[in-house]
Amino acid sequence: MDVEEFRAAAHELVDWIADLRLRVPELPVRSTARPGEVRAAVDGVPPELPEPFAALLADLDDVVVPGTTQVQSPRNFAWFPSNASLASVLGDLASSGLGSLGITWQSSPALTELEEVVTDWLRDLTGLSSQWRGAIHDTASSACLVAMIAARERASGLSEARGGLQSEPAPLVVYASTEAHSSVAKAVLLAGFGRDNLRLVPADPVTFAMDVDALRDLMARDVAAGRRPAAVVASVGTTGTTAVDPVAEIVSAASVHGAWVHVDAAMAGSAMLLEECRGMFDGVECADSLSWNPHKWMGTILDCSLLYVRDVELLVRVMSTDPSYLRSSVDGEVTQYKDWGIPLGRRFRALKLWFHLRLDGAEAIRARLRRDLANAQWLRAQVDAEPGWEVVAPVPLQTVCVVHAPAGLTGDALDAHTLAWCERINASGRALLTPALVGGRWVVRVSIGAEATEHDDVSAVWKLMRDTAQRRP
Ligand SMILES: Cc1ncc(COP(=O)(O)O)c(C=O)c1O
Repeated sequence: MDVEEFRAAAHELVDWIADLRLRVPELPVRSTARPGEVRAAVDGVPPELPEPFAALLADLDDVVVPGTTQVQSPRNFAWFPSNASLASVLGDLASSGLGSLGITWQSSPALTELEEVVTDWLRDLTGLSSQWRGAIHDTASSACLVAMIAARERASGLSEARGGLQSEPAPLVVYASTEAHSSVAKAVLLAGFGRDNLRLVPADPVTFAMDVDALRDLMARDVAAGRRPAAVVASVGTTGTTAVDPVAEIVSAASVHGAWVHVDAAMAGSAMLLEECRGMFDGVECADSLSWNPHKWMGTILDCSLLYVRDVELLVRVMSTDPSYLRSSVDGEVTQYKDWGIPLGRRFRALKLWFHLRLDGAEAIRARLRRDLANAQWLRAQVDAEPGWEVVAPVPLQTVCVVHAPAGLTGDALDAHTLAWCERINASGRALLTPALVGGRWVVRVSIGAEATEHDDVSAVWKLMRDTAQRRP
């Protein structure tokens, strides 16, 4: 493809994207594709000769769109908001067009320095102090892994430079609540701690927040048995119910043992943009690392996860490599993000945040988050007031967890009813909700916060929920 062919096709593609975004509200929210259907439609021998761009666009329309669950739909209430603001889409496009190589400062000074600027902007916009420095990672899962490796190395006095964890005299232990995201356990395992050294701390049965007395207890028992508490992961905004672990208390319990505290606020971190929500993060200033995803509720397109640390020097000691071909005369004067995480080559992700913030502005983003919080409170009040319906967890943010419990229906029968009405809604394509196990029972999560979701959409899904659950199939 030459430049002029690119120019023509790109114009068409941008028109296609704009038209698609206009069409999204009419599309079924959940993809209607059957397993293998997409593959069967496009499989075949790899192309030897160029095809017209129109053939690709036709396949996008005929195969890819039906094979895509429309998380940008105003009626998407599944999982968590996964917004892709159009301003950030433009930044992503600019990043691809630039085709830069992020391996050192020298390979793209702009990539490095814009990342410094946007991570500082978000640090300031979220009320964090200038003690924190941030980098953009692909996901909160990777960010958590980096934090767990840094914690391991701090606790072991940089054992990586010796025999690694295998040569440690005492096992190092990590703690997270039973409600923590599965990526936390994965990070702990991948960082080499081993499942035997991961403690799942009980959560309060009403708030689903970590029980810090239980944490203190578990830590004391580990110390008595000759093990060392190395890290605690505090979740602010758990995936199930958006429960908020008490960070300040966790930091205080961890500090007794010199354990690292990582705050996982993958979805809820966006709420730090709102001054009135910062109380949920009390104590975060004394944690060691914090990650959150602008690619969720805030709306910068995937992949855009922020990891902030207070001790960059330690992180760099743990992560740095120094092959001769990457050295330059400015080393020591500049940030080398290759030493802040796992990959060497990085994309120019800062552009999507830069475009998003500059083209939309923080004020509009804050207004949207407040709209979603208000809609969640509205829905909570409706469910509370409706006989036979129950809100099963506090609603500190934008997710409302509900059950419809007709008289006499309990236990497994109630679970079956919950899963059935939720599936009927999802299969209809008119909205998408996620069922989840909360406190051992199935509930339906209504996760509000798609960029396009207005009050009318929340009101419509509530009507759909009542009509569907209260009707016999
Ligand atoms: C609390 C929490 N932590 C971590 C993750 C993982 O996020 P990512 O997909 O960016 O790895 C999620 C995603 O749902 C989450 O809700």
